[in-house]
Amino acid sequence: MQILDGLKLSKQIKQEIKESVDQLITAGKRVPHLAAVLVGENGASQTYVNSKIKDCEQVGFRSSLLRLPETTSQEELLAVIEKLNNQADLDGFIVQLPLPKHIDQEMIINAIDPKKDVDGFHPENFGKMALDMESFIPATPFGIMKLLERNEIETKGKHAVIIGRSRIVGKPMSILLARKGNPGDCTVTLVHSSTINIEEFTKKADIVVTALGVPHFLKGDMVKEGAVIIDVGITRVEDTDSPKGYKIAGDVDFESVQEKASWITPVPGGVGPMTRAMLLENTLLAYQRNN
Ligand code: GUN
Repeated sequence: MQILDGLKLSKQIKQEIKESVDQLITAGKRVPHLAAVLVGENGASQTYVNSKIKDCEQVGFRSSLLRLPETTSQEELLAVIEKLNNQADLDGFIVQLPLPKHIDQEMIINAIDPKKDVDGFHPENFGKMALDMESFIPATPFGIMKLLERNEIETKGKHAVIIGRSRIVGKPMSILLARKGNPGDCTVTLVHSSTINIEEFTKKADIVVTALGVPHFLKGDMVKEGAVIIDVGITRVEDTDSPKGYKIAGDVDFESVQEKASWITPVPGGVGPMTRAMLLENTLLAYQRNN
């Protein structure tokens, strides 16, 4: 069993991005600029957004954090997006999800200029991704593809089972692994909450990507010998030993699954840091494409 070390690879990718930024600075050019919009006080969202801002600092990007109150109306948020769309010195921005219930998430995502949609959530980017056209690929699936590619994991002709059909992970992952190319060329099965017997599929998978949010769901007896296991789960579970009062648990029961896996991502230190690195990568791409 080998660890698919996302922390290590993310550091490498961030170093590569930093080198690109250093070259821009040497050439007297402006540096890439990412903005994050956070509406309300969701604890996990605050942590994620702060991490994204910190990542920008690490690679030398300019960053802006727009914190709006929970009571922000849909119209007010749309006005903020319109301003960011038109801000010439801003390369990309994200609106952290989930949004407060009174705001229509789809309406907000649709308002983002696809050229600045570094989350890759806009339907135009999603459609272009599905059609192999130039687009922004959502950071988590993009990070998983990079993990497979840089670790030279063979995907061609393999059976990949994706657990979960979210717009952020499961759906794009299923499209990317089925696309022509490397990584890709997989035969893909997308299982979800209405699938009758999930383990019937996972037992036959060469690659399993779990994005379910159920801690320790995937057990050793549900996977094939030699399978590649990618754990996207990041659920906060109570942990009285931790100063924070919680720890992060993945969807995979690491103890039992590692006995059978050929490659496995740890939680933490697997997919999470790759997601963060790929948002930076997308911001650099936005800068390069729009300049
Ligand atoms: N909420 C959870 N993950 C993400 C993400 O990747 N982007 C945004 N905007 N919100 C999220």
